[in-house]
Amino acid sequence: MKKRWLIILGILVIVIIGGVINVKMLHYTSEPEFCAKCHPEKNFGPGGEFYSWEHSSHAEAGVKCLDCHGRPGLVGYLQAKLGGLKDLYNEIFGSEEEKLAKLENPPKDLVPNETCLFCHSDEVNQAIRKSRLMQLAGLKFRLLDEVQNPGFRETFWLPDILKVDRIKGLYIPHAAHLENDLHCADCHKGMIHRAAKPSMCTCDKCHQENGGPELSDCALCHQIQEELYFGKKVREFAGTPSPMAESEVSCEDCHGSGDCASLRPDVSKACASCHEDELEDVLQSYRDKAREIKNSLQITTKMFEETYRSLLQKGEEQKLVRLKEIKYVLDEVAAGDPTGIHNGDFVLDILKRLRKELASLGK
Ligand code: HEC
Ligand code: HEC
Ligand code: HEC
Ligand code: HEC
Ligand code: HEC
Ligand code: HEC
Ligand code: HEC
Ligand code: HEC
Repeated sequence: MKKRWLIILGILVIVIIGGVINVKMLHYTSEPEFCAKCHPEKNFGPGGEFYSWEHSSHAEAGVKCLDCHGRPGLVGYLQAKLGGLKDLYNEIFGSEEEKLAKLENPPKDLVPNETCLFCHSDEVNQAIRKSRLMQLAGLKFRLLDEVQNPGFRETFWLPDILKVDRIKGLYIPHAAHLENDLHCADCHKGMIHRAAKPSMCTCDKCHQENGGPELSDCALCHQIQEELYFGKKVREFAGTPSPMAESEVSCEDCHGSGDCASLRPDVSKACASCHEDELEDVLQSYRDKAREIKNSLQITTKMFEETYRSLLQKGEEQKLVRLKEIKYVLDEVAAGDPTGIHNGDFVLDILKRLRKELASLGK
C-alpha cells in the first residue's frame, strides 16, 4: 500500500518539476491568485490567507505570499517552490479536517524573524545580501530578493526597527526584546492573517512575569502623550503644559489604572468626575477642538505630500532630509493626540509651525 503512494508521489514530482523548471510556470505558481485556489475562504481565519493578505498593508505595498513564505535568496525561493509540492500532495491525499487543523496551528517559526528583518532592518538585509546568491542572470522571481536597505525601507517611510526605539511616539526597544528569543508575531499577533495590532496586555503579562517595567509607568512607553501633556519638547518644538497638567490632573485620573485591557477612557464618564457642573460645555469644547485638529492634520498632511513630490522631482537631497524629520513629528502628533485631549493647543501650534516650514521648503 505504502509503495503505491510512493509511486504516485514520484510521478507527481516528475511532472511538477518538469513544469517548475519552466520560468513562466514558476511565476504563475508564485502569484497570490494561485495560492488562493487552495486557500480560498473569505475571512480572517484559517483557509482565508489570501483574503486576509488582500486586506493588509503588505499587499498594498506589493509584498506577496512568497516574500514572507520563503527565505531570502535564490535557494530560499526554490526551497519554497519545492515545499509547495507538499501542499499539493496534501491537497490531493489529505482530508479537509487535517488541512484545517494544520492551518489553525501554524508552527511558530513558519516565518522566521530573519525574513521580516530582511525588509525591516538594514543590518540583517546587508548581511544576508552579502552571504547569499540573491538572483540568477537578472531573472526576477519576487520582490524579496530585490530588497536593498536602507533604500527600500525609506521608500515606505519605515523605521529600521533594530535602530529606532521610538515608533509613532511609543517607546518600544525592538532589538532588546528580540534578544529574548521573541518572535515578531508574539507582539504583532497573527501578523497579517489574523490582523491584530500589538496590545498592552501582551506587554504587561510578560513584564509581570519577567521583571519588566510596571504598567503604571505610562510615560515610559507613551512618550509622545507625556511630552504633549506636560508641554515638554517634541523634537525641537517646545510648548506649554495643558491646563489640566498644570492643575496636576494625572494620566490615571482620566484613564484609570490597573487592568491593561480597559485603559481607554469612556469620555462622558471620565470627564464627569471633575467637570460635573459644566459637563456639556466641557464636552462641547472637546469636540470642537477635536474637529479643529482633524482639519489641521488634513491640511498639513496634504501640504506635506505636495512638498514631498515637488522636492523629489527637483532632486533636493538636503531638503528631503529635513522633510523626513517633519514627517516623523507629523506622525507622532497624529498618533499621540488626534483629538487634542492631551494638549490641543500645543498640537495645533506644532502643526502650524510645520506648515510654515513646509511652505518655505517648497519655495
Ligand atoms: C493545491 C492546493 C494548494 C495550493 C495551490 C497552495 N496551497 Fe498552501 N497548503 C495547502 C494544504 C493542503 C496545506 C495544509 C497541509 C500542508 O501543510 O501541506 C497548505 C499549507 C500551507 C502553509 C502552512 C504550512 C505549514 O507548515 O503549516 C503555507 C504557509 C502555505 N500553504 C502557503 C501557500 C502559498 C504561499 C501558496 C502559493 C504560492 C500556496 N500555499 C498554494 C494547499 C495548497
Ligand atoms: C518584502 C519585504 C517585507 C517583508 C518580508 C515583510 N515586510 Fe513588513 N512591511 C513591508 C512594507 C513595504 C511595509 C509598509 C506597508 C505600508 O506602506 O503601509 C510593511 C509594513 C509592516 C508593518 C507596519 C504596518 C502594519 O501592517 O502593521 C509591520 C508591523 C510589519 N511590516 C511587520 C512585518 C513582519 C512581522 C514581517 C514578517 C512576518 C514582515 N513585516 C515582512 C515590507 C516587508
Ligand atoms: C515586544 C513586542 C514586539 C516585538 C517582539 C516586535 N514588535 Fe514590532 N512593534 C511593536 C510595537 C508596540 C510597535 C509600535 C506600535 C504599532 O505599530 O502598533 C511596533 C512597530 C513595528 C513596526 C513599525 C510600524 C509602523 O507603524 O511604522 C515594524 C515595521 C515592526 N514593528 C516590525 C517588527 C518585526 C519585523 C518584528 C520581528 C523581527 C517585530 N516588529 C517584533 C512591538 C513588537
Ligand atoms: C508579511 C508577511 C506575510 C505575507 C505577505 C503572507 N504571509 Fe502567510 N503567514 C505569515 C506569518 C507570520 C504566518 C504565521 C502565523 C501568523 O502569524 O499569522 C503566516 C501563516 C500562513 C499560513 C498558515 C496558516 C495560517 O492561517 O496561519 C498560510 C497557509 C499562509 N500564511 C499563506 C499565505 C498566503 C497564501 C499568502 C499570500 C496570499 C501569505 N500567506 C502572505 C506572514 C505572511
Ligand atoms: C516575552 C516578554 C516580553 C514582552 C512580550 C514584552 N516585553 Fe518589554 N521587556 C521585557 C523584559 C524582560 C524587560 C526588562 C529587560 C531589561 O530591563 O533589560 C523589558 C523591558 C521593556 C522596556 C524598558 C526598556 C528600557 O530601556 O528601559 C520597555 C519600554 C518595554 N519593555 C516595552 C515593551 C512593550 C511596549 C511591549 C509590548 C508591545 C513589551 N515590552 C513586551 C520582556 C518583554
Ligand atoms: C510597557 C509599555 C506600556 C506601558 C507601561 C503602558 N502602555 Fe499603554 N499601550 C502600550 C502599547 C504597546 C499599546 C498598543 C499599541 C499602540 O497603541 O500603539 C498601548 C495602548 C494604549 C492605549 C490605547 C488602547 C486601546 O485600547 O485603544 C491607551 C489608552 C493606553 N495604552 C494607555 C495607557 C496608560 C494610561 C498607561 C499607564 C497606566 C499605559 N498605557 C501604560 C504600551 C504601554
Ligand atoms: C483629561 C483626561 C486625560 C488625561 C489627563 C490623559 N489622557 Fe490619554 N486619553 C484621554 C482620552 C479621552 C483618550 C481617547 C482619545 C480620544 O478618542 O479622544 C486618550 C487616549 C490616550 C492614548 C491612546 C491614543 C490612541 O488613540 O491610540 C494613550 C496612549 C494615552 N491617552 C496616554 C496618556 C498618558 C501617558 C497620559 C499622561 C501623560 C494621558 N494619556 C493623560 C484622556 C486623557
Ligand atoms: C481629575 C479631574 C479632571 C478630570 C478627570 C478631567 N478634567 Fe478637565 N480640567 C480639570 C482641571 C483642574 C482643569 C483646569 C482648570 C480649569 O480650567 O477649569 C481642567 C480643564 C479642562 C478644560 C479647559 C482647558 C483646556 O484644556 O482647554 C477642558 C476643555 C477640559 N478640562 C476637558 C476635560 C475632558 C474632555 C475630560 C475627560 C476626558 C476632562 N477634562 C477630565 C480637571 C479634570
